[in-house]
Amino acid sequence: MSRVLSGIQASGQLTLGNYIGAIQNFVKLQESHECFFMVVDMHAITVPQEPEALREQTESVAALFIAAGIDPAKSSVFVQSHVPAHAEMGWLFTTLAYMGELERMTQYKDKSAGKDSIGAGLFVYPTLMAADILLYNADLVPVGDDQKQHLELTRDLANRFNARFGDYFNIPEGYTPKVGARIMSLDDASKKMSKSNPNPASYIALLDPPDVIRKKISRATTDSGREVKFNPAEKPEVSNLMSIYSHCAGLTLQEIEDRYEGQGYGAFKKELAEHVVATLEPLQARYAEIRSSGELHDILRQGAEQVSVVANRTVRDVKERMGFVMPR
Ligand code: AMP
Ligand code: TRP
Repeated sequence: MSRVLSGIQASGQLTLGNYIGAIQNFVKLQESHECFFMVVDMHAITVPQEPEALREQTESVAALFIAAGIDPAKSSVFVQSHVPAHAEMGWLFTTLAYMGELERMTQYKDKSAGKDSIGAGLFVYPTLMAADILLYNADLVPVGDDQKQHLELTRDLANRFNARFGDYFNIPEGYTPKVGARIMSLDDASKKMSKSNPNPASYIALLDPPDVIRKKISRATTDSGREVKFNPAEKPEVSNLMSIYSHCAGLTLQEIEDRYEGQGYGAFKKELAEHVVATLEPLQARYAEIRSSGELHDILRQGAEQVSVVANRTVRDVKERMGFVMPR
């Protein structure tokens, strides 16, 4: 059975974009693959985090994974920092990476642009991500378009290790959904929906209450026309809302066009809001249950125990190949 690994950062609220673009896929993949899903807290601290906020966000993302349908009986769900092998492997891979290739990473360039002081962690971020993936010899890594460059670097580092120290790593492949790979902002369809947008009306957070969701959708930008037609080049706002509709209601884009033929945007937006609410309400109820029951910590402990077996073996093999004296 091939192995899947992915991670989501513990920073800020998760959005409907994360759900449609990433988590819904995780839930499907667990039916046919051996899956490892983690909350990456050590990546989150590459930009300053308040300790209390980091704790809250880490637990929240983990609980959302489970509330969204990731089943701990099928997948290992864990927190990156609970498995120290990530930090150790991250260092080993940092020594294999070149400054030049890290300087070329667009996420690093974006996050450091215009800053006087740039954290060193932000610079080596991709070597820790390579460690995350290679520790488990993952075959498939579901990530959005923005992470493809990091995955390419992971592949380069794996090949570099194999060339210097003998074949060991599998070369992982990316995996991006065909529809919904990019859910766009509600106020500006040229930007992706993101939890880091300072305007909360631009995204739907998975934990937004129903009335907030209704309000955000009713105010979402459309265009001066009145036809519900899927055409991302000419009607990017309406097309984005249609993608969301399609995911939440389980209708095809054609079915949506037919349904709203000649009706304008009012009815479309109203029903879209109800489909989003109906998708998120059960998730929110399950989330509240998980947070209050205390079961989350048991799930995370078990997840970390399961994956540590694989991770520790990889670190030991890698160190041995690199020439470290192994304790006897
Ligand atoms: P991030 O929120 O950037 O840490 O991303 C976590 C995961 O969610 C990654 O796999 C992203 O590609 C995915 N993701 C984030 N925002 C969106 C979006 N607006 N549309 C689709 N996928 C997204
Ligand atoms: N860098 C990824 C993001 O921001 C998160 C991440 C960290 C990740 N380690 C990973 C994703 C390993 C996939 C596999 O979305």
